[in-house]
Amino acid sequence: MLYIGVDLGTSAVKLLLMDEKGNIKNIVSKEYPLSFPKSGWSEQNPEDWYEKSVEGIKELVDGFEKEQVAGISFGGQMHGLVTLDEKDQVIRPAILWNDSRSTKETDYFNEVIGKETLSKYTANIAFTGFTAPKILWMKENEPEKFAKIKKIMLPKDYLAYRLSGAFCSDYSDASGMLLLDVEHKCWSKEMMELCGITEEQLPTLYESYDVVGTLKEEVAKELGLPATVKVIAGAGDNAAAAIGTGTVGEGNCNISLGTSGTIFISSKQFKVDPHNALHSFAHADGHYHLMGCMLSAASCNKWWMEEILKTTDFDKEQEEIVTLGENQVFYLPYLMGERSPHNDPKARATFIGMTMDTTREEMTQAVLEGVIFALRDSLEVARSLGIKIDRTKICGGGAKSLLWKKMVANILNLKVEVIESEQGPALGGAILAAVGCGEYEDVESAVRQFVTVVETIEPEQELVEKYEECYQKFKQIYPALKPVFQVLSE
Ligand code: XUL
Repeated sequence: MLYIGVDLGTSAVKLLLMDEKGNIKNIVSKEYPLSFPKSGWSEQNPEDWYEKSVEGIKELVDGFEKEQVAGISFGGQMHGLVTLDEKDQVIRPAILWNDSRSTKETDYFNEVIGKETLSKYTANIAFTGFTAPKILWMKENEPEKFAKIKKIMLPKDYLAYRLSGAFCSDYSDASGMLLLDVEHKCWSKEMMELCGITEEQLPTLYESYDVVGTLKEEVAKELGLPATVKVIAGAGDNAAAAIGTGTVGEGNCNISLGTSGTIFISSKQFKVDPHNALHSFAHADGHYHLMGCMLSAASCNKWWMEEILKTTDFDKEQEEIVTLGENQVFYLPYLMGERSPHNDPKARATFIGMTMDTTREEMTQAVLEGVIFALRDSLEVARSLGIKIDRTKICGGGAKSLLWKKMVANILNLKVEVIESEQGPALGGAILAAVGCGEYEDVESAVRQFVTVVETIEPEQELVEKYEECYQKFKQIYPALKPVFQVLSE
């Protein structure tokens, strides 16, 4: 049988076709626009997601035995607010995970309702990117549109709805809405009340590997697929990526270097970081995870290469970088403000430490290193909770770069296990589809079958020590600049 995994990303939808043994048969990617209508705003048109997914699925299965396609599932960009009216029309463009317009509402949640109370209700505190502060923003700033809301959904759930008609979500993605009682896996009545919404407006909840329906007749016809194709709930992109890299069970780690950068630690038990710097979310394997998320990771390199250096040859720029652990230039990667661990929408990207002899290569190197130093800030929070991690899987566009993986190994002092395909969320989606269709008993056994480590990058003691010194310097830059970021924002 064949399974389709959809990674509904921020810059593109990536689609992957896999057989029941885990062999990847085809991969297709379709880009769509991302708009920043005002400073700190980030929006997309849900219709673009659907159109490009349909176009991509048709291309993906072209030339394959269509009757063999048994299931489809998703990994989707998290936290986005999609609102539909009574005619199922999208009310306004989706407000994405990296949008920081809801500063006032986030402060209201954290300071007036209080972090402790929020953590009691949801296991998390408010961040501007999370869905609940956006709902409140809409209520206050677009009351006529807010009054029209019949359905609230997350990006990948919009796709599932269009494909199957099922108004559904899964626990991993719903965790990032600040509306879910994560520990008990149900909607929080208190949070719904605070947002002025009711349970009827929210999707039915499923485990990520649950079947939510089948393709609608007309959609099946359009795609050229049988209407028996099962639609499986899927997961937030980080949980799906973790499935795709085999990060399940207790104490395993995955790092994703995509538009965002995340460090994901799987856990059999529900856990909360007492300071809520790490998110406490449900996992797509039926358990839980802790996660630190930085808002700009591979996007920092893309911005530096394409917008500033005006090049698309990323490899060539990285070839010139040979000496590691000695760079005197530092870069703070906060192009969109920062989530974990600082929770500061006002933070901004910064270069510091340049002299007259600073080179282009050192600036590029500082960008790559800055992203990993910032990831280490979240890893240090996990370590401070007593979590022991000595190795990590890696995925996302940034995982294609050997240099960047070497930085991960040495800045974080972790063994980096490289798997066959860095297509984390799309592969995770396909695996969830296979489990949902009964091909495997559970996610853990599917992952054991599908995911193979092909290479391990070991940290080198001398480099680890050099980078330790650099990290101790890096750590001082953000606290020193924090008041300046506040002034810049006024
Ligand atoms: C996770 C997060 C991002 C998006 C990116 O909390 O906001 O990783 O899911 O797609």
